[in-house]
Amino acid sequence: MEAGRAVLESYGYGEIELPLLEKGELFSRSVGATSDIVEKEMYAFEDRDGTMVALRPEGTASVVRAYIEGGLTRAMPVARLYYTGPMFRRERPQKGRYRQFTQIGAEFLGRDDPSADAETICLVADICEAAGVSDARIDINSLGDEGCRPAYREALSAFGRERIESLCEDCKKRLERNPLRLLDCKVESCAKATADAPMMIDHLCASCRSHHERVLELLAAAGVKVESNPRMVRGLDYYCRTAFEIIGSGLGSQDAIGGGGRYDGLVAALGGPDLAGVGFAFGVERMEMAATDAGEQTRSPEMFIAPVDEVAAEPALVLARRLRRCGSRVELGSPLRRLRAQMKQADKAGARYVIILGADELAAGRATVRDMVNNSDHTALFALDDEADKIIETIGRVGESGA
Ligand code: HAM
Repeated sequence: MEAGRAVLESYGYGEIELPLLEKGELFSRSVGATSDIVEKEMYAFEDRDGTMVALRPEGTASVVRAYIEGGLTRAMPVARLYYTGPMFRRERPQKGRYRQFTQIGAEFLGRDDPSADAETICLVADICEAAGVSDARIDINSLGDEGCRPAYREALSAFGRERIESLCEDCKKRLERNPLRLLDCKVESCAKATADAPMMIDHLCASCRSHHERVLELLAAAGVKVESNPRMVRGLDYYCRTAFEIIGSGLGSQDAIGGGGRYDGLVAALGGPDLAGVGFAFGVERMEMAATDAGEQTRSPEMFIAPVDEVAAEPALVLARRLRRCGSRVELGSPLRRLRAQMKQADKAGARYVIILGADELAAGRATVRDMVNNSDHTALFALDDEADKIIETIGRVGESGA
């Protein structure tokens, strides 16, 4: 989560805090009254005055509501906002699927040009890398817009009606209410029956097509790899044009670690001006399960301070605090443990550098730094009472020298 936050802030996103409880109709008007999320999964109940309220199943609708109610559409017509926190969906819990889970999500409001979609997907790729899931795959599709989608929806519905006998009970209902969802039904007979179904990507109008092509072009130029997946439709109704999903490896059936897309009609549908939007959310638990190696180092301490005895405990505590206040991630070992045990602990924690504070170092007012990557010791590199910034810089040079 911290890695994601840092990347979001580097892209200029500011944090917004959202309520856990909202009016239920906020989600039926945005996510969609016939979506599974609203129809089957939302924790909705009647408040004392008869108003239906709901535990938020997602964050986009709340961001847009706050954006409109807070007058930001005028004050900040282009806004980049992010949020983190628990979401609630009434689902059958299983590995990777919980009734309460955590999202880190971001919304880029007020821009309808393809470069906003491309920048958003670059951000997604950078968060994946920072969180240690750089092997995740980004699937992309275009869902068209209010101009070209109705005719496609009708064509898909007609296609499904011809094969109604092979469809599951849910898909039979979806045929009229939400035919796009036929394409991501997991039931085998449905997948077979819709194998040669018409795809939205082949029915885009000229402006949706050129938007989509430009997004792909920009992503290629930025070196961000995406895979076209014409069957990917997303489970929330507010999307138009670009839709994407981030698929982690080795997660089993719940392998979407994140998803998002463009939602140009949503601000207007919730009572605001006609402003565009594009965003995404990651499921933090799934992202952590998918995290493999490299990025995990971002969460590991950069430094481990090993005080070799009780005398060293005090300068170790002081040094740790000074370095942390300068933004370093520091883990502090126990003076009661042998140095060997502390070195093992530092290795397990993934620390890049170990600062050893023992009697010799204290007598000289200096510390020994072990570079755990190059497995080399560097003595007398800095004085304990040097400025913290200087200490951090000196330690960084140990790594660069690789000696
Ligand atoms: P979503 O695809 O419904 O999109 O959820 C985003 C991510 O939340 C999923 O990819 C998954 O990792 C995680 N997630 C969803 N349900 C569960 C669950 N029951 N247990 C564990 N993790 C789960 C949205 O929520 C949109 N608001 C994203 C968005 C933002 N689109 C535009 N802006």
